[in-house]
Amino acid sequence: MITLRTANLDDLDLLKYWDTKQHIIDCDPDEDWDWEVQLPFFPPWREQLMAELDGEPIGFIQIIDPYLEETQYWGDVPPNKRAIDIWIGEESNLNMGYGTMMMKLAIDACFKNEAITGILIDPLKSNLKAHRFYERMGFQFIEERKFGDSDCFIFELKRP
Ligand SMILES: CC(C)(COP(=O)(O)OP(=O)(O)OC[C@H]1O[C@@H](n2cnc3c(N)ncnc32)[C@H](O)[C@@H]1OP(=O)(O)O)[C@@H](O)C(=O)NCCC(=O)NCCS
Repeated sequence: MITLRTANLDDLDLLKYWDTKQHIIDCDPDEDWDWEVQLPFFPPWREQLMAELDGEPIGFIQIIDPYLEETQYWGDVPPNKRAIDIWIGEESNLNMGYGTMMMKLAIDACFKNEAITGILIDPLKSNLKAHRFYERMGFQFIEERKFGDSDCFIFELKRP
C-alpha cells in the first residue's frame, strides 16, 4: 500500500542519494533543493511528503501554493491553485504503477480543500514519459513556458 507522510530531516540522506540518480537529474537538471535548510522548514504554502510503499520510502512529492510560495517560481498565477513535483527514487520502482498511486493521493489531498480549482505541473518539454503520465490522469496541456534555462510544458488538472 502507498501512503504519504511529511518529510523531515531523517529523510535527508535518502533524498540526497536520490538526487544523484540519473533519472531524477534528467527531470530536474537546474534545481538545488537545499534539503538541509528546507526539510526542517514548514511554511504554510508547502508540503514536502515522502511516499512509502508498505512503510518503506520510495518517492517524494512536493505540493505548493504557487500564489504564496516565497520565491514566486510560478510568476503570475491566480490564488487557489496547487503545484506538484513528484519523483520515484529507485529505478527498480519505476513503471510499477506506484507513481500513479502517489499522484492520486496528492490530487485527493489538494482537492480536499474546496477552494482549490486546479493543480499545475511543469515537466520538462523533453520529459515525454511524464507528459503521458499526467495526461493519463486527466491533466491538460496549457502552454509551453521557460523556467530559468528549462523549457517546460505546463499542464493543469482542473477540479472535476
Ligand atoms: C513520472 C513518474 C513519477 C511516474 O511514476 P511511475 O510509477 O513510473 O508511473 P506509472 O508506473 O504509474 O506509469 C509509468 C508507465 O508504467 C506503466 N505501468 C503502470 N503500471 C504498471 C504495471 N503494474 N506493470 C507494468 N507497467 C506498468 C504505465 O502504463 C506507464 O507506461 P508508459 O511509460 O508507456 O506511459 C516516474 O516515472 C518518475 O519518478 N520519473 C522520474 C522523475 C520525473 O520525471 N518526475 C516528473 C517530473 S515533472
